[in-house]
Amino acid sequence: MINIGSLSLPEPMIWAAPMAGISDKACRIINKEFGCVLVFTEMVNDKGLLYGQQRTLALLNLEGEEGPAAVQIFGREPEQLGQAALIAENSGAALIDINCGCPTPKIVKNGAGAALMREPRRCREIFRTVVRAVKIPVTVKMRSGWDEESSDRCVEIAGLAEQEGAAAVIIHPRTREQFFSGKADWGKVKAVKQRISIPVIGNGDIDSGETARFRLETSGCDGIMIGRAYLGNPFIFREINGFLQNKEKTAPVTWAERLETAAKHLNLACLFKGEEVAVKEMRKHISWYCKGIPGAAKKRAEINKAQTRAQMLECLHSAFA
Ligand SMILES: Cc1cc2nc3c(=O)[nH]c(=O)nc-3n(C[C@H](O)[C@H](O)[C@H](O)COP(=O)(O)O)c2cc1C
Repeated sequence: MINIGSLSLPEPMIWAAPMAGISDKACRIINKEFGCVLVFTEMVNDKGLLYGQQRTLALLNLEGEEGPAAVQIFGREPEQLGQAALIAENSGAALIDINCGCPTPKIVKNGAGAALMREPRRCREIFRTVVRAVKIPVTVKMRSGWDEESSDRCVEIAGLAEQEGAAAVIIHPRTREQFFSGKADWGKVKAVKQRISIPVIGNGDIDSGETARFRLETSGCDGIMIGRAYLGNPFIFREINGFLQNKEKTAPVTWAERLETAAKHLNLACLFKGEEVAVKEMRKHISWYCKGIPGAAKKRAEINKAQTRAQMLECLHSAFA
């Protein structure tokens, strides 16, 4: 077991990344089912919580989810972030994560997300205020820096997080300038690990048991976080777990299991969001589940036209036939 503050998590520690528009309740339940030990909400706007906006509050709904779920918050005002963290704690969050990594223009132009990598002093203030506001553990998810010149900034900011009482840090070692281009620079994860004593979670480009083991061994990090590789592929958590524990590849997922899981994901989404919203939102997920199927492009076009759960299920069955 590894302790993230007061939260004990089993090893190997594989977390599912927060992803806006993706890591909703249905997605979190499915990822948990395949062995992910900690799931995250989509990023949640601090002001939206403070003003009681329904859409924002809905992101905090963790009802009926088994085991720990983390809530990720974003903003730039320490006091507001502290109050938002308290609201999330009261909604059942097991952990609060502070977003210092989002590269989206809309977010950074307001000085939040990855923009905070340019403001170490503000970061310290935010970490201190949020840690004091809640009883549950607080983590910080960050990029390596803002641009090439400041690409070592994560070492400094991770040090501040430790000093202010954060329970762990998550490093996605690309700069804001890189967005998702190039390769994640895992040397930065190693540099952070060598500098601080709280657990370090590495994140970026892990898509198999082999890459997971390689990154854990070469960076010395305590756990890994998976993002894009779980899209339409929650089986990645079982695959990595199996590989890390037995050093052997598990049998590839069958088409039947893929179909069954995609249908379950769709049904859960309909249950939680209502059919009309869920079917629209699930188009991308269903297309990802269909990746690799012969004639996938044509199937995707059909999936994008589906209006009801029944039509979507029909598309799925025909794609997997
Ligand atoms: C569509 C999308 C949405 C994302 N949303 C968030 C988010 O809400 N909060 C966050 O910290 N990171 C977010 N990320 C970044 C991921 O959490 C992760 O750090 C990044 O994808 C690198 O990991 P990967 O190579 O395993 O995908 C998002 C990434 C994508 C592609």
